[in-house]
Amino acid sequence: MPRIYLETYGCQMNVADSELMLGVLAAQGYVQSGVPEGADVILLNTCAVRDNAEQRVVGRMGELQRHKFPGSIMGVVGCMAQRLGPILLEQVPAVDLVVGPDGYRNLPELLRHAQGGERVSDVEYRSWEHYEDVPQVRESGPTAFVTVQRGCDYQCTFCIVPTTRGPERSRQLVDVVRETRQLVERGVSEVTLLGQTVNSWQEGSEDFADLLRAVGAIEGVRRIRFTSPYPTDFTPRVIEAMATTAAVCEHVHLPVQSGSNAVLKRMRRRYTRERYLEVVAALRQAIPGITLSTDIIVGFPGETEEQFRETLGMVMEAGFDDAYTFKYSVREGTPAERIAEHVPDEVASERLQRLIDAARLQTRQRNAVRVGQVHEVLVERPAKRGHLMLARTRQNFLVLVDVPRDSVGAYRRVRLTGTTGSTFTGALEHGSLVVI
Ligand code: 5AD
Repeated sequence: MPRIYLETYGCQMNVADSELMLGVLAAQGYVQSGVPEGADVILLNTCAVRDNAEQRVVGRMGELQRHKFPGSIMGVVGCMAQRLGPILLEQVPAVDLVVGPDGYRNLPELLRHAQGGERVSDVEYRSWEHYEDVPQVRESGPTAFVTVQRGCDYQCTFCIVPTTRGPERSRQLVDVVRETRQLVERGVSEVTLLGQTVNSWQEGSEDFADLLRAVGAIEGVRRIRFTSPYPTDFTPRVIEAMATTAAVCEHVHLPVQSGSNAVLKRMRRRYTRERYLEVVAALRQAIPGITLSTDIIVGFPGETEEQFRETLGMVMEAGFDDAYTFKYSVREGTPAERIAEHVPDEVASERLQRLIDAARLQTRQRNAVRVGQVHEVLVERPAKRGHLMLARTRQNFLVLVDVPRDSVGAYRRVRLTGTTGSTFTGALEHGSLVVI
């Protein structure tokens, strides 16, 4: 049987897409290999959101090409493949195949061509594509990703994703529900709904509130997460559905990108700092205990020291529990590329460090006061080191707990006993075992 080795970079949508590709190839008899040695097909599912994500892949391609043998194929798929297209074939001789996010259905045929000695690419946009009939190959476990929307219609000026993933389209509610039911039958109890602006999901008169309610009504779905939402798509209806659907977890990842109105405007984000804070307040009001994480870019063209300080202030004012921070990376063809006021790299790096320090300090402080609290956790998998298991609270805290290995998938109540600042240790609360 032919063997496929697949590495995934970037966002959760890529993880879900990798599961799709493995599904497409499993139908052709491919089996997955955990190592590149001896693999008939090596695929890299790539990210294009920042230059360093692409550079990592370039480096990795150099390493992986050692494992090629006559007749074997190395392919680049995903967002970097879509962005560069056939240019990748020209620039990297070891690459035989380049396929963008809408072309995975054609992988078997493209692979046949490549195995026949051709070098092939498929970077067509197919705005109807949802891979509805493709059964994914997923790792077993209690959690799963469910893609509900592909592409993006928001035009944030820094972002390459509208180019790499094409126009936004929502999957039908019945299809999302069917897939979730099948997952539940296989032991999944937590689903993460995925979309680039997931809460703008829409089907006719139904919106994301209806989707949350429909998924929340499926028996066996105990936790719902979703990522990434767009701040202004948290309508009162959606917030109400979150508050009243028991399975929806008390955590939202809410990318703010900047705390400065001037910068937000140049980024073409559709909100001001004040509007963003209103959304935060509405979420906190409706969903007690909700935790917030965010994405922030520093060094966006034209960002002044003053404007950067507004972003620093936003970390505290919004009360983020966690922040993913990035130095702006210019992406070819995006509108921001044409903004002339470049922020020098040393300045951006220094701002990034100040932001990381501020965000980390706040995370530590917020987590320190959580020690002693009792939370329900879902045991997800063995921790990397030692005998402990990795579990997660509804508010998205990671907790190391000393429970048997066969507790994967179980819900337990734990008391948080300590924190590193970012993760926790926990002890079972005896006598209050939650039966699923
Ligand atoms: N430069 C830096 N960060 C970016 N992101 C998106 N595009 C860029 C870029 N050009 C960040 C945003 C987004 C996250 C996934 O990546 O913060 O939310």
